[in-house]
Parts: sequence; structure tokens; C-alpha cells
Amino acid sequence: MKSIYIETYGCQMNVADSELMLGVLARDGYVQASSPDGADVMLVNTCAVRDNAEQRVVGRMGELQRHKRPGTILGVVGCMAQRLGPILLERVPAVDLVVGPDGYRNLPELLAHAQGGLRQVDVAYRSWEHYEEIPQLRESGPRAFVTVQRGCDYRCTFCIVPTTRGPERSRKLADVTREVAGLVEQGVTEVTLLGQTVNSYHDGTDGFARLLRAVGAVDGVRRIRFTSPYPTDFTPDVIEAMATTAAVCEHVHLPVQSGSNTVLKRMLRRYTRERYLEVLGELRLALPRLTVSTDIITGFPGETDDEFNETVSLVKEARFDDAYTFKYSVRAGTPAERIKDHVDDAIASDRLNRLISVVRTQTRRHNVGRVGEVHEALIERPAKRGDMMLARTRQNYLVLVDLPPTAVGQYRMVRLTGTTGSTFTGAIEQPALAVLS
Ligand code: 5AD
Repeated sequence: MKSIYIETYGCQMNVADSELMLGVLARDGYVQASSPDGADVMLVNTCAVRDNAEQRVVGRMGELQRHKRPGTILGVVGCMAQRLGPILLERVPAVDLVVGPDGYRNLPELLAHAQGGLRQVDVAYRSWEHYEEIPQLRESGPRAFVTVQRGCDYRCTFCIVPTTRGPERSRKLADVTREVAGLVEQGVTEVTLLGQTVNSYHDGTDGFARLLRAVGAVDGVRRIRFTSPYPTDFTPDVIEAMATTAAVCEHVHLPVQSGSNTVLKRMLRRYTRERYLEVLGELRLALPRLTVSTDIITGFPGETDDEFNETVSLVKEARFDDAYTFKYSVRAGTPAERIKDHVDDAIASDRLNRLISVVRTQTRRHNVGRVGEVHEALIERPAKRGDMMLARTRQNYLVLVDLPPTAVGQYRMVRLTGTTGSTFTGAIEQPALAVLS
């Protein structure tokens, strides 16, 4: 029996893609290995959005190559593979295989060639590829990622993803709902729909609003999340579908990137600060309990102190519940590379640290104010430390609860009893009737 070890970096779509690769290889007789020791194939599924993501992979490749024996294949897949292609073979002699996000269908043949001693590269774009009939090999559990759209047609000037994932395409709505129905049969009750700009989903007939309603109508689906949406694709019909589809959770991750209109313009984001806030207002009106997280880049080329301060003020004005903050990382071949006035690294780092502290303070304040609330929580899995279970509320708070592992998959009412600032501890609320009797 051949075995495959796979390590995943980057976004949730990479997690889904790794499951897909396991699915492709399972059909070819591979079994998944839980450690690189003794595995016949080691794959690293990579991210290319920032240089530090790539550096981490390079470091990891150095460690993994120590597990190579004669005949073992070490492969780089994903966005960094797509971005660098054959250059990776030159830079890392231990690498036998380089495959981009559109090439996973061919993994069995590519691996067979590599095992025959020929190093392989497949970074062709296949804009039709949805891996439609290949089942992802998912870990069992109540949650599943479902890719509904691949690629990206937006041209944010900082971003490498249009190059690494190719043009935008959407799966057919009926294919998505069929997959979701199959997942429900395996015990899934929460689905996260994935796409680079997921709410621009359109399969030629139906758009994202219809998709939300259709997934929400699948019997057994209790929760729907999606990531990541693009601000101006929250059209009134999408917001209406969110508000009227009971399963859609009261949380959005809505990347803003900057609070300065001039920076947004240089980034080729297709909205202003004012429009972004307007969209948030519309979402909050439709879903009053909505929580909002975002992505922000500091130190984008030309960013002045004033422009940065606009971002700090936006974090407060938008009342973000959380934000993932990044220092701008120049990506070769992107339009932003050619913008003059690259920000000094020390200044960008200083801004990042200041922003992180503003975000942390705000998140903590929001969360402290939530202690005492009662929420429906899905018990997801054992927590990393201790013998508590990790649960998630519809608004995406993580709560540690004292329940046995057999509770995984249950929905329980949980009272938030404390917070570390970012996560919560919670107590199971007995149903009122049980207390009375
Ligand atoms: N530098 C820094 N951050 C980036 N992101 C994307 N490209 C870059 C870059 N070149 C961030 C954006 C995006 C998130 C996934 O990564 O904030 O939303």
C-alpha cells in the first residue's frame, strides 16, 4: 500500500484542496500517513500571498527532505508551486514534483513519472477545472468546506492570487447542493462555502443569493458560512437571502484592506471607505446580531501616516470584532510592485504593531461585554490543550466547554462565563424544563 503525507499552509481553500488531493490519490490506492516518517509521498500545499508564507515552506522543505529515502517523493503543490514552477526544482534540489492548483487531477500520473526518476512540473491553467466528480477525502466531523468558486477576476494590485489560481469560475448550483446533501448524509451540519470572492459566485444561471437559499434548503443543513466575500458583491438580493435563510450564520469575514480612499484606489479595491461602511450598515440592518471580521494590510506602497491613521479610525468606526493584519509583502509581477515609494520596513512594522494593539483592545472590549450571553454552540472537536471541547457560536466565537468527546457534533446552548480576550469559556445551559422538573 502506498502512503501519502500532506501538510497544508495558507487559506481554507488550501485545506479543501488538500482533501481533494487525498481524494484523487485514494482512488489510486494511496492511504493517508499521519507523519512524514516512512511515507512514500510527501506533499506540501503552499501559499504565495506573502513572502513569509513562502519562507516558512522553504524552511519546512529543508526539514522534510531529511525524511526522504530512495524512492520517496517530495512535492510542492498549491500557489507557491504555481508561482515559481520549474524555478522550485532549481532552488530546492530535493523537490521531485511541482503542481499548481489546476493540476491535481493528474497527480497519479505525475507521481508515477516522478517515482520513475523524472522530476515533474505541472503548472498549466485549466480554467474549466472544478474537480467535479472527485470526492474530497474529508476528516469526519460536523463541519465541511465546500469550494463553490475557483480563481479570481479581481485585480487587487497587491495580490498574487489571480496569477496562482487563474480566472474565476463557479461550479453549477446543482452540483454544489448535491455535494452538500451527500455531506449531510455523512453527518455534516455546518458548511462553509469557499471562493476567492465568494459572493460574486455566478454559474451562468444563478448567483450567490440563489446559492445561499438552495444550500439552506438542503435538509439537515443547520449552518452556512462563506469566505471570503468582496464588499461590493453584497448586492441587495444577497443580503436579503442572508437575512431570510435561517441557516446563514450571523458572521461575515469582509476584507477591507485599508481605511484610506487613496490607498484603496492604489490597491484597485472597487469601493471607498464610505461605501464599505454603507455595505456594513446594510448587512447589520438585515442581520442585527452580525459580527464582522476583516483583513487589513499596513505599509502598502506610498502609505502615509495620515493614510494609516484612516485605517486605525476605520477599525473603530466599523466596530470590527476581529481583524487579521498583515504587513505588505511585495509580490513579483503584481502591479503594486511598480508603485513608487515603498514604505520603509521599520515603519510598516511599527504601523502593524500599533494596528494589532488597537484591534486587540477592541476585540477584548467586545468580548468582555459578551460574557453572560447565551448562544447556540456547535461542539466541534477536543481542544488542543486540556480535556475541554471546542465549540463555535453562530457569530463565530470560540468557546471552551466541559463536555465529553462524544458531544462532538451536538448543538448546545452555552452561557459565556469568561474570556481570554479572544476566546471564551462557557457553561452548558440545561434546558429550562430540565431545571424545573
Ligand atoms: N502583502 C500582504 N498581505 C497580503 N494579502 C494579500 N496579498 C498580500 C500582500 N502582497 C492579505 C490580504 C488578503 C489576505 C488573504 O492576505 O489582506 O485579504
